[in-house]
Amino acid sequence: MLRQQDVGHRIVVRRIVGIREGRPLFSDALGELVELSETHLTLSTAQGQLRVPVAQVHRAKRVPPTRRPTAAAVVALERAADEAWPAPTRGQLGDWLLRAADGWTGRANSALPIGDPDRPLPAAVDAVERWYAEKGQPPIINTPLPLAAPVGAELDTRGWAARPPVLVQTAPLPLPAPAASSPPGTAPVARPIPATAGQPDTAVADADSWSSAVVELVAAPSAEWLAVAAGRKGDLPDAARHVLTAVGQVRFAHVYDDGTLVAVGRGTVTGQGRWLGLSLIEVLPVARRQGLASRVIHELAAWGVSAGATHAFLQVEQHNTAAVALYRRLGFTTHHTYLTRVAPH
Ligand SMILES: CC(C)(COP(=O)(O)OP(=O)(O)OC[C@H]1O[C@@H](n2cnc3c(N)ncnc32)[C@H](O)[C@@H]1OP(=O)(O)O)[C@@H](O)C(=O)NCCC(=O)NCCS
Repeated sequence: MLRQQDVGHRIVVRRIVGIREGRPLFSDALGELVELSETHLTLSTAQGQLRVPVAQVHRAKRVPPTRRPTAAAVVALERAADEAWPAPTRGQLGDWLLRAADGWTGRANSALPIGDPDRPLPAAVDAVERWYAEKGQPPIINTPLPLAAPVGAELDTRGWAARPPVLVQTAPLPLPAPAASSPPGTAPVARPIPATAGQPDTAVADADSWSSAVVELVAAPSAEWLAVAAGRKGDLPDAARHVLTAVGQVRFAHVYDDGTLVAVGRGTVTGQGRWLGLSLIEVLPVARRQGLASRVIHELAAWGVSAGATHAFLQVEQHNTAAVALYRRLGFTTHHTYLTRVAPH
């Protein structure tokens, strides 16, 4: 049977759709599992979303993704993601990256074991432990899978803990057009404004329930935007500002309603201009399920396309069912996963 770890992955479900002459009739469905609750599972199939009561499920199991990315593709995407979330303190161990940012976020404070560390694996892990110990930080290694499975096995023997799996998801750009939410004659209006820090370079107002809501993309985050980031990821040390802003091509999405910041997002273009990275997509609880996150992502995607990006990526915790459902709906699929491994105290 399925578990929460299967969310975001491709599965096949055999369900009972009726009874004929006392025998069950089965139907098979194939797609990505977007939600799993005690009573239902939701599958995204080529024909659209399918919600199946658990009581009707005869058998269900994970199946391999249609195409596994090559190791080179995983390395290229991980490097683009590292560029998009740059730790100010950095080191190298052969091809492995060592990153520190005053402890702000696991990604910016972890080693990335991609490529050859120029020494046997146990010695490489010892060196990672020393590098972080010198900085007074816990040793953390992010293991993209299955690429870094051998590293994971070495960490297992040392008793390193694993945080919940993270899905690295991608979608080709441009994203599919959003479903129209405005009545005829009240289509969204976009007005380009030069992109200087604190000045919006795109603004879209539309006539749905968030009639006064405006998506603004600016080259530097406002104090309120930073407060939302701090609320989500923890108080911002100086290094956090570097992580957020030290990228050549970056935009911060702000959505205000009646003067209140109700939604945020961040977009970067890295990886030799190929990859739009989406991060810190967040909507205030009172403003959720109104399409705001989708609008923020579409605005950032349009900016990414104008900056030359051909694909988008993001990282989402596998158990974040709301976000996984949102991204699925926007065309994202899982490229690979990673585990954040933490050394025992
Ligand atoms: C995830 C999040 C950003 C979604 O924001 P939102 O503005 O509510 O999303 P949208 O209204 O654009 O949702 C679009 C679609 O995504 C899916 N979706 C969004 N939230 C969902 C939820 N809680 N459960 C199931 N599906 C959901 C639905 O298909 C939805 O369409 P529908 O409302 O017509 O059914 C918001 O819940 C949030 O801020 N969560 C906390 C922060 C977070 O987890 N961010 C993502 C980090 S990777």
